[in-house]
Amino acid sequence: TEYSPGRARAIAYANVALVKYWGKRDADLNLPDVGSISIALDALWTRTRVELDPALEQDSFELNGQIEAYGSGRVTALLKRMRSIGGSETRSRVFSQNNFPTGAGLASSASGFAALVTAADRAYGLDLSPSRLSELARIGSGSAARSIFGGYVEMHRGELPDGSDSVAEPLAAAADWPLAIVIAVSERGRKSVGSTEGMQRTAQTSPFYSAWVNNQPNDLALARTAIATRDFDALAHVSEASALALHGLAMSARPGLLYFNATTMECLHRIRRLRGRGVAVFFTVDAGPQVKAICAPEAADTVAAALEDVPGVTEILRAGLGSGAVSMDDGQ
Ligand code: PMV
Repeated sequence: TEYSPGRARAIAYANVALVKYWGKRDADLNLPDVGSISIALDALWTRTRVELDPALEQDSFELNGQIEAYGSGRVTALLKRMRSIGGSETRSRVFSQNNFPTGAGLASSASGFAALVTAADRAYGLDLSPSRLSELARIGSGSAARSIFGGYVEMHRGELPDGSDSVAEPLAAAADWPLAIVIAVSERGRKSVGSTEGMQRTAQTSPFYSAWVNNQPNDLALARTAIATRDFDALAHVSEASALALHGLAMSARPGLLYFNATTMECLHRIRRLRGRGVAVFFTVDAGPQVKAICAPEAADTVAAALEDVPGVTEILRAGLGSGAVSMDDGQ
């Protein structure tokens, strides 16, 4: 296998948390106050190309064919950190493509930063371990640490101030327990309050923040056991509880954070009704209005039809479980 130094490509998949991350104990390094558990989605990805160029005075970052200002500070900071690991001074051109809406609560930052560190690792010839890549991706965005791995993934809170133990780790492979994900999109714009600001406001102003942090180990243990024993009902209960607790917590910030719209709420009721009729499905919602229904693969058509029918749903995305981030030589 040939290796052309100085340029590489990578693909990484979005993930959706079943046990949610919300809250940082260190803003600079993105150290979480809680662990989290997620699944990778095969249909939502970011592809990134990194090209070193000694003639460049600054890194440049293009997202979906346009020079990107939003988020480029975090991209440059991460590249700088990776250059210092490898002892390189050479700046890069970064080209990134998402095949799904950016910044709308669909975890674009997760696949984005996982793809970036994976491509940069290869372009700069660092050859870091997946755990180190997870640590670096985390500095870009907390949830990105999980997108280094595929299938079922646990992100550890960690204890160390340098963040070296705040990394993700695989729990089970996608093939161990295949599930389907049906996403009901009801707004395509960028979310009103980003996760970083939302987390900070919540930690500073919600009277319930410490209860959230203290309860998280229980939910992580329940989800770990449900995954290990393939217990769909148990996973459904803990996942819905964690999503609702996150939103209840966010609503209890001052001023309260409202990520749901009316369509979000209607989708949650439909999913609960389907499960009441014996369909293996549960919901989760992140920092945006989109509803993610997690279901048995054989239930996916029924779930998609039910959500498509909800007024305000503009688009249905479907996915299976995805793999971890992969780098490739940039052949040419
Ligand atoms: O990775 P961030 O900083 O965008 O935070 C992600 C927060 C949630 O998506 C709401 C929850 C999660 O665990 O992914």
